[in-house]
Amino acid sequence: MKTNIHNLIRKGISTKTIGSRILYYKEVDSTMTYAKQKIEEKYPEGTVIIAEQQTKSRGRLGREWISLKENLLFSVLTSIPITEASYLSIIASISIVRALKQTIGITTRLKWPNDILIQNTKIGGILIEGYSKNDTNWNIIGIGLNTNNSPNLKTKIPPNNLKEITGNRIDNSLILNSILHELDSLYIELKKGIIPIKEWKNHLSTLGKKIIVNNEKEKLEGIAKDVDKAGRLIILTNDGRKIKIHSDEIIHQDLPLN
Ligand code: BTN
Repeated sequence: MKTNIHNLIRKGISTKTIGSRILYYKEVDSTMTYAKQKIEEKYPEGTVIIAEQQTKSRGRLGREWISLKENLLFSVLTSIPITEASYLSIIASISIVRALKQTIGITTRLKWPNDILIQNTKIGGILIEGYSKNDTNWNIIGIGLNTNNSPNLKTKIPPNNLKEITGNRIDNSLILNSILHELDSLYIELKKGIIPIKEWKNHLSTLGKKIIVNNEKEKLEGIAKDVDKAGRLIILTNDGRKIKIHSDEIIHQDLPLN
């Protein structure tokens, strides 16, 4: 399947909802901000906003995301009930895992809730932002994948890129096309009430690991036992408590093996 982003835009893709419109920009501050603007301009559910470069990209928990040239950076407009928004991060991460397997044959793991890992390194992340407009709940899914470049950061899970891992230059349009197809079918199923928790759990490298939870109130240590139906992480703390977290930052004490 040979494709490029301009072909996707010109001819469209054979999805039902995700990719209903595809907008492409050379440079934006953040595709998240543009996505919000597109909601104001009444673009439909499924609209995809892609940028070659971002000058103010954002990551989870108020962090900065470092956008580099030739990487895949995009946002998708979705609209589901506010109570179901947490499922979006589940389906987005599964769509990336599936797409990377299909297009370049690579197996990825997930650090809860949605960091994309390969061999103890981070190759991508997902950010979900909610937005209400005239009684309609909108959620913007933002995906950043280090396909051809990665920043030089000294983080516990260091950044990496797919070109470095595979030894080949990565065709962003091929991966984008595959993610959008997978996301489309998962999104349609989600609207019918089908939540792929089992598949997500199979990809989660966090389960069974010793972890540290860093939140504003306290620093907790324990074992990541399971996830519940809403995607919250169930932790057995070292002092014997069973707690659930839904968006805090966690640190794997024992790093994933794959
Ligand atoms: C994370 O791991 O913290 C999530 C990173 C999400 C980055 C993407 S890049 C496209 C979209 N635009 C942004 O400003 N952020 C998301």
